[in-house]
Amino acid sequence: MHKRKIFYVIMLMAGMVTLFSCEYEKIFFDAPDPTVPISYSTDIQAIWDKGCIGCHGAGQTPPDLTPGNSYNALFTGGFVDTAVPNQSIIYTCMISGGSMAVYSNAADAGKVLVWIQQGAKNN
Ligand code: HEC
Repeated sequence: MHKRKIFYVIMLMAGMVTLFSCEYEKIFFDAPDPTVPISYSTDIQAIWDKGCIGCHGAGQTPPDLTPGNSYNALFTGGFVDTAVPNQSIIYTCMISGGSMAVYSNAADAGKVLVWIQQGAKNN
């Protein structure tokens, strides 16, 4: 009888750990591991290619987010703030409440933020 009780307690604890780890994934999904380097040319440009260049092409609405032009356009237009990364327009426009949020998602916005926090390199 006593052993069975211990078994239930262990199962209950295991269940809770499983539940909470799912919750954790959900809450922190949009925050990529800040220690893993983000590449502008592969990770970030892919976001622009997927959801932005239809409107932000060369000669269209600034910033020009097309490959080869986007990095310079972000800096010359003042869309990146390396001193206060989470105030960068390119990030704030993508998060919930931002003017471009409908074309984006939290995971992509999180990548953009970490890229800026890592120094917004043209890597
Ligand atoms: C359907 C067309 C369209 C798409 C798709 C689109 N944009 Fe825009 N974007 C605009 C227009 C129009 C403006 C200028 C008016 C405004 O700010 O809403 C703009 C403005 C901006 C600005 C300047 C905002 C400011 O406050 O100065 C940024 C930065 C931007 N977009 C980034 C993005 C990013 C990043 C994506 C993709 C995730 C994206 N846009 C997708 C049409 C679009």
